[in-house]
Amino acid sequence: MCGIVGYIGSREAYPIIINGLKRLEYRGYDSAGFVLNYPEGLEMVKTKGKVVDLEDKAQGVKLHANIGVGHTRWATHGVPNDINSHPHMSNNGNLVIVHNGIIENYEAIKIKLYSEGYVFHSETDTEVLVNLIEYFKEKENLNLTDAVRYALTEVIGAFAIAVMDSQNTDEIVVGRLGSPLAIGIGEDEFFIASDASPFVEFTKDAIYLEDGEMATIKRGEKVKVRKIVDNKEVHPSIHELQLDLEQIEKGGYEHFMLKEINEQPKSIHDTMRGRLLPDEGIIKMAGIWDHMERFKKAKRIIIVACGTSWHAGLVGEYLIEELARIPVEVEYASEFRYRNPIINKNDIVIAISQSGETADTLAALKLAKEKGAFIYGICNVVGSSIARITDAGSYTHAGPEIGVASTKAFTAQLTILTLIALKLGKHKGNLSNERFMSLCYELSTIPSKVEKALNTNDIVKKISEIYKDAENALYLGRGYNFPTALEGALKLKEISYIHAEGYPAAEMKHGPIALIDENMPVFVIAINKGHYEKVVSNIQEIKSRSGQIIAVVTEGDKQVRDLADHVIEIPECSEEFSPILASIPLQLLSYHVAVMRGCNVDQPRNLAKSVTVE
Ligand code: F6R
Repeated sequence: MCGIVGYIGSREAYPIIINGLKRLEYRGYDSAGFVLNYPEGLEMVKTKGKVVDLEDKAQGVKLHANIGVGHTRWATHGVPNDINSHPHMSNNGNLVIVHNGIIENYEAIKIKLYSEGYVFHSETDTEVLVNLIEYFKEKENLNLTDAVRYALTEVIGAFAIAVMDSQNTDEIVVGRLGSPLAIGIGEDEFFIASDASPFVEFTKDAIYLEDGEMATIKRGEKVKVRKIVDNKEVHPSIHELQLDLEQIEKGGYEHFMLKEINEQPKSIHDTMRGRLLPDEGIIKMAGIWDHMERFKKAKRIIIVACGTSWHAGLVGEYLIEELARIPVEVEYASEFRYRNPIINKNDIVIAISQSGETADTLAALKLAKEKGAFIYGICNVVGSSIARITDAGSYTHAGPEIGVASTKAFTAQLTILTLIALKLGKHKGNLSNERFMSLCYELSTIPSKVEKALNTNDIVKKISEIYKDAENALYLGRGYNFPTALEGALKLKEISYIHAEGYPAAEMKHGPIALIDENMPVFVIAINKGHYEKVVSNIQEIKSRSGQIIAVVTEGDKQVRDLADHVIEIPECSEEFSPILASIPLQLLSYHVAVMRGCNVDQPRNLAKSVTVE
């Protein structure tokens, strides 16, 4: 987590850094800072709090340099306070660093530096690293690039760093291992950032550093990329960015989350575009098609993911087992990577990740690859680490998701998983042509059904008003909508801080039913497919114990309407597509409740969008 940004060129660096930090704030927002490099010395400002607090603190400071770096932090080592904020300066006051990641062996390095007379002011691992760089620079009389390289070869952990020397206003040195770093290439100017969003309006050309690479960025020269381990020069490819400014702005919405919820008809459509040809009965997915024999022979698919992406994986399990009849296991990446899992050559491991940078998911994939599995990625961020290490994969094309709570990325993941399940089902001969054609056709209508589901906004807002002060909430569903219940509960708890739990409806009797009383709102997904009658019985059980029922039902439903306190109607659909539609009102509900409770919807406390530490 953490976002880093930098600029070197002829424009003023400060506005580029501040705006860049605002765009990267999704990566962490408990403190922020920047340093500008003038011929007469460094100007550094940093503070606990958000980028707006940094702007306040910077008032009255000289802000006219054309080289500088900035940072927005999600604390790992040391509480969020002014001292622990980045940038960090080395003991002689010459070197400054911003860092995203964790230096695992920082204690050992710190002890070594203590013995050389170094002192430390913060509790961070980053301050240790900048002093290690200074140590090599001074002791071995090295230039900045070589000093950074020497230091990075001693470091265990993950990093994306940018380092400047106050003695040189023409150079920034960057390096990467495990945390992303992009370099924007303009005409006689360079941008550095954790993702391309800070420089999208200035240039469309970017280099994405690979793990284990570093670069020297010098005014008026070509960027020099080299391997950290052996100093070998690398010729990086220059990527053309597909991102535009509009995609990363709020577009008139009060919050990114609301914008992203409302973008879902488009994001789902974009995810299917060029892939689903419903009239011809064709699903084009090169990542699957090119490896069809492997998929056909697969004894098992293991899905690894975290959080919301893990919930998408659970829906994927239902879809792939039902439509393609391949056994699927869904694992938390963080558990999978540490439990010596049994993986065979005929297994396929699918990672699902919006950011493509989640440390646990990345590590789980690497492990699976080492054990010989074929690894497949479902990512949203193009060029992300997971997308790059997988053998094949499919992008979700949901567009940038900036609100920390995942919404459109989730439904895009469900769309990709549906396409995969349908394609595999067809080619394995598990689906009749008729069923395949009818599901393909229905899938193509989902964006317009999502549009309709978004019309529940007014009723959802009224319901939110009634339950906004609840202390607890339960979410229940069965079959395909058990994961929907988990996702609904996660959305509520992460942005409104109401304790919420998702359960398979039938599990109620085995414990959670003890929680039911007249104060407990119970959100039930009760669509008219699958286990409808069973869910109705579960609703009766809650009603008999005075629980408040808010049910997501199929339009026209009568039975549940008679039992529930409130109903929210979504369009008629096959069970396979119901998690997409049922999620919409649950996303809206968590959004409205959070707004009514005065919570920071886009940047909930303690969270960050891209979890690049384990
Ligand atoms: C919740 C949420 C998180 C992420 C999780 C995995 O709204 O966004 O639970 O789903 O941190 O992130 P990715 O998908 O980027 O691997």
